[in-house]
Amino acid sequence: MFHKGFFKGILGAGVALTLATGLPAIAQETVKVGLILPMTGASASTGRQIEAAAKLFIAQNGNKVAGKTIELIVKDDQGTADMSKRLAQELVVNDKVSILGGFGLTPLALAVGPVATQAKVPAIIMAAGTSMIVDQSPFFVRTSFTLPQNTTPIAVWSAKNGIKKVVTLVSDFGPGLDAEKSFKAGFEANGGQVIEQLRAPLANPDFAAFLQKAKDLKPDAVFLFVPSGQGATLMKQVAERGLAQAGIKVIGTGDVTDDDLLNSMGDDLIGMITSHNYSTDHNSPENAAFVAAFNKANPNMRPNFMAAGGYDGMALIYKALEKTGGSTDGVKLVEAMKGLAWTSPRGPISIDPATRDIIQNVYIRKVEKKNGQLYNVEFDTIPNFKDPTHK
Ligand code: PHB
Repeated sequence: MFHKGFFKGILGAGVALTLATGLPAIAQETVKVGLILPMTGASASTGRQIEAAAKLFIAQNGNKVAGKTIELIVKDDQGTADMSKRLAQELVVNDKVSILGGFGLTPLALAVGPVATQAKVPAIIMAAGTSMIVDQSPFFVRTSFTLPQNTTPIAVWSAKNGIKKVVTLVSDFGPGLDAEKSFKAGFEANGGQVIEQLRAPLANPDFAAFLQKAKDLKPDAVFLFVPSGQGATLMKQVAERGLAQAGIKVIGTGDVTDDDLLNSMGDDLIGMITSHNYSTDHNSPENAAFVAAFNKANPNMRPNFMAAGGYDGMALIYKALEKTGGSTDGVKLVEAMKGLAWTSPRGPISIDPATRDIIQNVYIRKVEKKNGQLYNVEFDTIPNFKDPTHK
């Protein structure tokens, strides 16, 4: 048993420290943010983009919020769900992080959900896009996008712009299935017809046989979704199959014409129409400043939609800490995040208080060459668009 005086002594020392510095001892605290990202493997570009954007946000805004010092810890899950879960547990138990974030693919986010729920630690989805992820933990909040949100606008646009028959080709996992379903719903509600739905495996896909099958069906257009990192391989095989020469248009979500890879995909892409939540070319003062600062800190790298998700994820964390006055209580932080709204490099965004999902503009874009470089040039906007499949 400790003597009563022992506790008195400890307390006394704390009070003395407070008086001596003139600041409450709490002001010296560090808030740790643990980002779990694929830094190696097939989705490494997602990890690189988000890490660069999160570090840029901290460099621009300082590492102090509401009297706390922010410390970023980045861990590589190599794109495997077992590793994401183990890293989440280690970050919570050993590093005592107050907030988790990142999650480069849907299965990686899903693996972290139970850890976030049990530890009552907010988990900010900065990349993954399957609609139902936010329903799997009350501690999930999303700053990326959802596939129903990004797909529905191109489905409606296609039906209204002379495209009548479409074959869809998607990666066979959560976001691909969301894209497939949302495309069909939006396209057919506006008079179009999906004549075939093809799914390619996520790992090491060979798209040739699927594209040949799509070509043989002679649709007006092929709709494509693959996750960030696979667009260049897919579009090379699209060119090899000669879809354009056969009079078949190629449309998709902006994941396919990802800014990270677009410039290496070649002039065959010029004219391709997609819908998406972010383009490096987005015309706003906020985005001009973001792209310039990102390029300065990361020469030879273009910020893509993953960078936007990471940058806004850090903005969300800072704004929530300001609202809680520096409290890192997980329930209070998530409550503070609900309804937050601000202007991102991608345009106006907010967190839907009912779903903890992002509400944002979705843009219709066309690939064009500007100053010798390929860009997704936005020409139409669906403002403040919510995931249409959330209840
Ligand atoms: C996902 O796994 O949810 C995901 C990954 C990359 C994308 C879109 C969705 O570009």
